[in-house]
Amino acid sequence: MKSIISSYDLTREDVEEIFKLASKFVKEQKGDSLRGKTVALAFFEPSTRTYLSFNKAVINLGGSVIGFSGAEGTSVAKGENLADTIRMLDNYSDAIVIRHKFDGAAKLASEVTDKPVINAGDGKHEHPTQTLIDLFTVFNHFGTTDGLIYGLLGDLKYARTVNSFLRMLTRFKPKSVYLISPPQLRPRNEFLEELNYPYKITSNVNDVIEDIDVLYVTRIQKERFLDELEYERIKESYIVDLNLVSKMKKDSIILHPLPRVNEIDRRVDKTAHAKYFEQASYGVPVRMALLKKILGE
Ligand code: CP
Repeated sequence: MKSIISSYDLTREDVEEIFKLASKFVKEQKGDSLRGKTVALAFFEPSTRTYLSFNKAVINLGGSVIGFSGAEGTSVAKGENLADTIRMLDNYSDAIVIRHKFDGAAKLASEVTDKPVINAGDGKHEHPTQTLIDLFTVFNHFGTTDGLIYGLLGDLKYARTVNSFLRMLTRFKPKSVYLISPPQLRPRNEFLEELNYPYKITSNVNDVIEDIDVLYVTRIQKERFLDELEYERIKESYIVDLNLVSKMKKDSIILHPLPRVNEIDRRVDKTAHAKYFEQASYGVPVRMALLKKILGE
């Protein structure tokens, strides 16, 4: 395993090995497998969780971090192109973690450096390390990621976390997947065509909520809309509130990659179903496990 641009760059065996390592790091966030190594964080787009948890993961493993969060202070502001910026980071680091607003930016980066590149979110394309965290949360709760009924709710067209999640599920055996969104925000065909498990597209969450084991909620991705009026029309299509949650199976869970806006009522946070903050807490151990696997061996 070298660069991680897509969920498809990870096999089931890779994911299981990462989960095993991550479980160890949940107990003790310490290691020395990155001693003497430098990881560059090139975040051209805003981030809280991904940027900070990669940062902490490198430090926990004894490595050093360089980079930026927001390209305003870099020579991108003077017109430097992405490829040249990556070539510079190649000079200063052993691996590059990149977030960028353009689909394909991580792939492009991996083509101009021999160092491993980790995609921390490229436009509306993929965010594979988020999916590792999502499925690790599922695994911790159910002891498996197989045989479950998943429901993905919200913006299934522009949310890169959804694309990576759908792709990584092809490595596992979900019982079925409900894809719940307004008609305008259905998953793109290029992603649907690849799925090797049963799925059903619907707009009505109430019809399916009682079946679902894992409800994966996503924010309507305002920044990806070309038409602000269309965003305003559909921004509150779904609100996961206590009424909806009361219809869920007793042992079912709610995930969200975060940040949330209004799509989950804050009163849901106190229910046993709400796992999204626990999910975010796995950012550091899961990314430690991934970095150890890529750079530490
Ligand atoms: N889930 C996620 O990618 O969050 P950030 O945008 O805060 O990194």
